[in-house]
Amino acid sequence: MEPEAIITLDGKPHRYPVITGTEDEKAIDIRKLRADTGYICYDDGYGNTGSCTSAITFIDGEKGILRYRGYPIEQLAKHSNFLETAYLVIYGELPDDATMRSFRRLILGNSSIHQSMLGHFSGFPTSSHPMAMLSAMVNSLGCFYPRLASNDREHELNHFDEAATILISKVRTLAAMSYRMKMDKPFIYPMDKLPYCSNFLHMMFSEPYSDHIARTEVDRALNLIFLLHADHEQNCSTSTVRMVASGGANLFASTAAGICALWGPAHGGANQAVLEMLHQIHDSGDDGTKFIEAAKSGDKTKRLMGFGHRVYKNYDPRAKILKEQCEIVFKALGTKDPLLDIALKLEAAALKEPYFLERKLYPNVDFYSGIIMRAIGIPLDMFTVMFAIGRMPGWIAHWREIALAKTPIHRPRQIYTGPNERNYMPSDKKS
Ligand code: CMC
Repeated sequence: MEPEAIITLDGKPHRYPVITGTEDEKAIDIRKLRADTGYICYDDGYGNTGSCTSAITFIDGEKGILRYRGYPIEQLAKHSNFLETAYLVIYGELPDDATMRSFRRLILGNSSIHQSMLGHFSGFPTSSHPMAMLSAMVNSLGCFYPRLASNDREHELNHFDEAATILISKVRTLAAMSYRMKMDKPFIYPMDKLPYCSNFLHMMFSEPYSDHIARTEVDRALNLIFLLHADHEQNCSTSTVRMVASGGANLFASTAAGICALWGPAHGGANQAVLEMLHQIHDSGDDGTKFIEAAKSGDKTKRLMGFGHRVYKNYDPRAKILKEQCEIVFKALGTKDPLLDIALKLEAAALKEPYFLERKLYPNVDFYSGIIMRAIGIPLDMFTVMFAIGRMPGWIAHWREIALAKTPIHRPRQIYTGPNERNYMPSDKKS
């Protein structure tokens, strides 16, 4: 017999089917609940709400498992690279050699930015945050490809490969330009003979008469950071992309919205917040002990940044991989960083503390990604931008899933708690 859930309301039972995912995840399908009963489900923060079915990423937060399209993240981190993983995330299968060559060719051929977009950049004050510039520029990008940003779903799906590769390639150019703009430095054009990550570092750090050549270990570390961020199922920014896409908006507009959602410190902004926290601890002469004591107070403003996760209630598998990579990069560059020492001490201390153990708070991906990025010279306010470059394939894959499934527009309900009906009173009659 198929399992079902019975919800009894006002003494009357209502039966709902149980649906099961490929990893035996179970959900009660309550799509007909409101029509049957007039009730809705209340789930502030959506912690228990399956907003969709999706075939892209599987996470078991209790066991610390993350898989893209069925492949364990540890295997992809060991054997793959960002572009191959991006293809896998978007299209569902690992590419063969010929497919990968043509995917890479499309990405390489799309790295430059239209000349008139340079004018957009010069309109930003140098105080602008790179995330604000990036989201605005990704949305503007659609204006240069009206064919691909027509909001005509069928047409957009026919040209999907082009739009996807434009975004993966140009988000990196736009990111580097945001940095150069902020530093009041001339833009550096992409050098298409370079691999994806080295080309990005070239656009960030080369000067007109001196090319920046990235070390192999640094290119590999950046590949890993992007690969580990490529998707993470229904997080805040991805849900935003799906929400915007469900209204029929094009890929450029939907991913620009994802960048805005990513910016917040509880989401993508946490990698920046980790480094700010480590600086603060270092500058105050604390070895982390006082900070951990304060973090246990329950005060949200004193949280141990880079710890805890809405889904992982175990060590985030991405943090494990990046911790190892951190040591490789530091060794290759000969870096000594007091902030890394503080981070290691904080982690060791927190993992012994009952407060963190009882609440299942473990290091997340941001705990180590920021330290690596600092070592390779990425400035603090570019950290979340790096996350956005890495997450682009995931957003694109989710947009495609929505577009192919012809999903209805997302429109959650609410429980209204405001005033009951009252009559308008002109201001001169109020007193
Ligand atoms: N430091 C201290 N206490 C914490 C922390 C922390 N980092 N995170 C959660 N708690 C406590 C919280 O105060 C609460 O305690 P109590 O039960 O006594 O009220 C308990 O743990 C559960 O917290 P929660 O806010 O209900 O947990 P959540 O699942 O809603 O929040 C989180 C997840 C990531 C927003 C939160 O852990 C956090 O703010 N962490 C720091 C910011 C951070 O590193 N964010 C990056 C997330 S990973 C990147 C990504 O995938 O977006």
